[in-house]
Amino acid sequence: MAKTLSVEAPRIDGARLSRTLAELGRVGAYKDEATGLTGVRRLALSAADGQGRRLVIGWFKAAGLKVSVDRIGNVYARRAGADESLAPVMMGSHIDSVPTAGRFDGCLGVLGALEVVRTLDDAGLRTRRPLTVAFFTEEEGCRFGTDMLGSAVATGRIPLEKAYGFRDKDGLSVRDELAKIGFLGTADVRAVKPHAYLECHIEQGPILRRHGADIGVVQGVQAISWREVVFTGKSAHAGTTPMDLRRDAGVAAARLSLELRRMAGSGRFGAQMRATVGSVLLGPGMVNVVAGTARCTVDLRNPADAKMAAVERHLDAFLKKVGREEGVKVSWRQTAKTPHVPFDAGVQTVIADAAARLGLSAEPILSGAGHDAQEWSRLCPTAMVFVPGEYDGISHNPREFSTPKQCADGVNVLLAAALALAERA
Ligand code: GLV
Ligand code: MN
Ligand code: MN
Repeated sequence: MAKTLSVEAPRIDGARLSRTLAELGRVGAYKDEATGLTGVRRLALSAADGQGRRLVIGWFKAAGLKVSVDRIGNVYARRAGADESLAPVMMGSHIDSVPTAGRFDGCLGVLGALEVVRTLDDAGLRTRRPLTVAFFTEEEGCRFGTDMLGSAVATGRIPLEKAYGFRDKDGLSVRDELAKIGFLGTADVRAVKPHAYLECHIEQGPILRRHGADIGVVQGVQAISWREVVFTGKSAHAGTTPMDLRRDAGVAAARLSLELRRMAGSGRFGAQMRATVGSVLLGPGMVNVVAGTARCTVDLRNPADAKMAAVERHLDAFLKKVGREEGVKVSWRQTAKTPHVPFDAGVQTVIADAAARLGLSAEPILSGAGHDAQEWSRLCPTAMVFVPGEYDGISHNPREFSTPKQCADGVNVLLAAALALAERA
């Protein structure tokens, strides 16, 4: 029978963690033309995602974890506690990626949690509460348009049937694609209510590195608003249609992009306002045809809900104006929207204490990116551990890189925090 926990947490095996991250990083690897680097392309519910999922589940099973898959394809792997009547401490993140990813975003949280389990096994330690390691479907939102999809379903924000109906750009549905890769599970999506939720993640920005901090104790996640905006004008001959007779959807899209940059830089919505048009699809998209349609994405981020509401009102007014001035019809739909989410102060203290005990410098930080943790924070006390990244923390890019030491520090903090929480009644 394994020992129960001693006060001093063991240390993780950083080399094993790096090897495991590298191995998962080979699934969906592609040669990136822009950087010349090898990146990761593992869109949610693609064949590569299926392969990555099976690889990670194999590791879970080899570590003796009991694996279940729920009806939205979220994967939970449970390590028994000394008292099985207690709710588990859950550690999770995602392994799906944007099409131009590195190998750390999300994967560090999942494989870090696996490393926590492996370390406890090596040390022969059994926690009082069970531990659950989890990864969630379509965190990125790149394929089916809505981010944090699996964790939003598991925590009740998005109904399962609605999520099943989301489609990718080729019209393929979440439900069918789950079935295709063999991850249309049977476990109840609302089955898990953890005692606490922890997520270790790369910062994906420059702050910790610039401040020389080893660890970020994440205070919360800023508000996110995504829209799909469609401008419909009139396609016409590029050589013969006078400029003043055009209803050019491409020009409307270009004006949207410029306006978002102007608006974000104006200071009116706070210094941390971020606004991006990340995708514009022009139809018919030909050199000699004025664009009749433009389908654009809009990504807005702001730490303050009131400022987010103000920027959305500003955008509404701008869309009306550009429609009028360019003679195009404007329609839009909200594809994702989450408020500013503050994390639990008690769990932040547990993380900060864990870092201090490990002799690591830690500072509070607000997350610029969205995370599964923001969904779980509705169900249970939640906070995140951030790890700095090299090259100004670039992410959603194959250049994304955190050193083995940075990753190991983050996962040692995850381990110590999980142990502290798992011993609590
Ligand atoms: C998740 O990667 C996000 O878009 O914030
Ligand atoms: Mn992520
Ligand atoms: Mn991401």
